[in-house]
Amino acid sequence: MDVKHLTANLPSTPAFVLDEQTLLSNLSVLKSIKQQSGCEVLYSIKALPLSWLMHLAKDFVDGFSVSSLFEARMAKEIIGDEGSIHITTPGLRDDEFMEISQLCSHISFNSISQYQRLAHTSPSSYSQGLRINPQCSFADDLRYDPCRPYSKLGLSMPLSKTLTEHMDGLHFHNVFSNTDYGALIKTIAQIRTLSGCRLSDLQWINLGGGYLYNQINNHQPLIRLIKQLTEDYQLTVFIEPGKAIVGNAGFIVTTIIDCFESDGKQVCVLDTSVNHNPEVFEYQQKPELLEHDSKGNYSCLLVGSTCLAGDLFGEYRLQTMPKVGDRLVFANVGAYSLIKANRFNGYNLPDVYKVDKLGSMQRIKHNSYQSYREQWGEP
Ligand SMILES: Cc1ncc(COP(=O)(O)O)c(C=O)c1O
Repeated sequence: MDVKHLTANLPSTPAFVLDEQTLLSNLSVLKSIKQQSGCEVLYSIKALPLSWLMHLAKDFVDGFSVSSLFEARMAKEIIGDEGSIHITTPGLRDDEFMEISQLCSHISFNSISQYQRLAHTSPSSYSQGLRINPQCSFADDLRYDPCRPYSKLGLSMPLSKTLTEHMDGLHFHNVFSNTDYGALIKTIAQIRTLSGCRLSDLQWINLGGGYLYNQINNHQPLIRLIKQLTEDYQLTVFIEPGKAIVGNAGFIVTTIIDCFESDGKQVCVLDTSVNHNPEVFEYQQKPELLEHDSKGNYSCLLVGSTCLAGDLFGEYRLQTMPKVGDRLVFANVGAYSLIKANRFNGYNLPDVYKVDKLGSMQRIKHNSYQSYREQWGEP
C-alpha cells in the first residue's frame, strides 16, 4: 500500500485503514500451512470482527473462533453452514447456552463446573471439548499469561478419565505474539505427558492463537508437529490466529491538531487518542509510527486529545518540524485496537476504510453523532 498516497487522499481523520493486499498475503501464509500440514484454520474474530474482513477471510479459512453470543451470531451470519464455529470462554451463561450451542459446532468448556452445569441443558449436536491450562508459561507480563497462578482459563492437568470419556477434543491457548514455534513444541510435549487422557480417544485438538505466522519464515517445525499429532493420535488439529491475520494490515491515520512546548518538550496533540487503541494505555505500549526516523532532527511527544493525562503515544523523531495539519500514520494496529475503541470524552470513533488490491480506497464505516446519542440513551 502506498502510504503517502493514502494520507494525502483521505478526506478526513482519524481513520482506521485496512489494507486488503496485506490481509490476502497473511491469509495465504495460513492457507499454505494448512495445505502442507493438514490442519484446519479458524479466524479468531475477537481481534477485529469487521464484517468486510470476515467475508474476505471466509474463503481462506475453515471457520471462525468466537468468545461470546454476539460473536457467535455474527460468525454464523457470515459463514452460515459453510464452516465451523468454535467457542471457548469463562463467560458462558446459562441463559445464552441454548442459542450458543445451536450456533457453534465446537464448544470447549472452561471449567468442570461450567461443563457440569451446561452440557446437558442443550440437545444440540455440537462437538464437546475442554479448554485445558497446559501449565506452560511464556509471557513476562502476568496480564498476558493464561497459565498464571490461579488461572481462570482452562482446567489444570491431569484431567480425570471420567471427564475426558465424554469429550471429543481439547483446546489450549497460552502465548501472545510469538514469532517462533518453541513455546508450542514445549506445550505439546507437556500435554502429551501430563494431560491424563488418551489423546487417541479424542477427535480434535485446538492449539489456540498467539503465533504471528506472517512473521515466521520457517514453518517446518509447526508442520512437523501437526503431522505428528495427526499420525500418533488421528486428531484433527485446529489453529485459531487473530493478530496474524489482521495486525499488520491495520493503520490509524491521524492529524496534528495542536503543537506547543511543555517543560522543554515539543508536544503534538493528535485527533486520535488511546480511545482508539486502548492497549497503548493498558500495556504502556508505544505504537509504531511510520514517520518516525531515529535520526530525525525533530523530537516530539505525540499525545491524544482526551483529558486523560496519560493519554500519550510516546516520544518520536521526525525529519520535518511537526505542525498543525500534518498527517501521521500508526502502523501494525489492526488487531485489538478498533474492537476495544471507545468514545471517552465524546470523541468519535475513527472512520473505517479499506484499500483494495488495486490501491483504491473506500470508506466502509462512519459513526455519526446519532450513534453517540443512541449509545447514551437519548431517544
Ligand atoms: C482462546 C483464544 N484463541 C485465539 C486467540 C487469538 O490470539 P492472537 O490474536 O494472539 O492470535 C486468543 C486471544 O486472546 C484467545 O484467547
